[in-house]
Amino acid sequence: MSVRIAIIGGTGVYDPNILTGIRDEKVSTPYGDVGLKIGDYQGKSVAFLNRHGAGHSVPPHLVNYRANIAALKELGVKSIFATAAVGSLNEKMAPGHFVFADQFLDFTKVRKHTFFEGGEQGVVHTDVTDPYCPELRQVLAQAAGEFGLHYHNGGIYVTTEGPRFETPAEIKMLKLLGGDLVGMTSVPEVVLAREKEMCYVNISMVTNFAAGISPTKLTHQEVLEVMAENAENLRKLAMKAIAL
Ligand code: HPA
Repeated sequence: MSVRIAIIGGTGVYDPNILTGIRDEKVSTPYGDVGLKIGDYQGKSVAFLNRHGAGHSVPPHLVNYRANIAALKELGVKSIFATAAVGSLNEKMAPGHFVFADQFLDFTKVRKHTFFEGGEQGVVHTDVTDPYCPELRQVLAQAAGEFGLHYHNGGIYVTTEGPRFETPAEIKMLKLLGGDLVGMTSVPEVVLAREKEMCYVNISMVTNFAAGISPTKLTHQEVLEVMAENAENLRKLAMKAIAL
């Protein structure tokens, strides 16, 4: 059975345990080998890729985004559901809420962000008017509504380089620019998926108000704890969306 759907599990989502018949696969790409799992869910074959590798060992700026997306393309994947832990700049998007981003702002610095580097690949300027698949966002909104989750269909995801969190001054600037969410991974992942003409959707889980908005200092532990509290909802949501 060909694999049409993939989940990219971000921080706190390491476990595809709702899938059955799970097997490990290694996919070779021009950008490196990618280990992932493939299983079944309601008659559909689904790939699960852990963005940060085994034991959260790869920091956001060193994730091999090109290999990951190329591997999913190689498998025949058409639709990608990508989870992300994010901070919020928007008081309406509180910890525990889900946001399906519809736009991004890119503040990354050192990443391989395109498949098209001239030479054999050529020069291609990809349209990103709708970077995140509007149809899949609708599917997620329907699933989230059915579960009674707090969700927002649309939001501007600011991608920072990390791995450090932001300064309060940076957060103030990003808020002025219109950002709603801040995280470290959506760019270049979404852009590479667009370059490969795959339908990509972001499932952001707000874990905290961003630096300077939150009254307390931010820790990775706090992010993991909020993700753990909501991991079950996140998994249910992804699976429901896949089944729709
Ligand atoms: N900033 C950047 N990335 C994050 C945050 C944050 O506040 N929370 C979770 N991921």
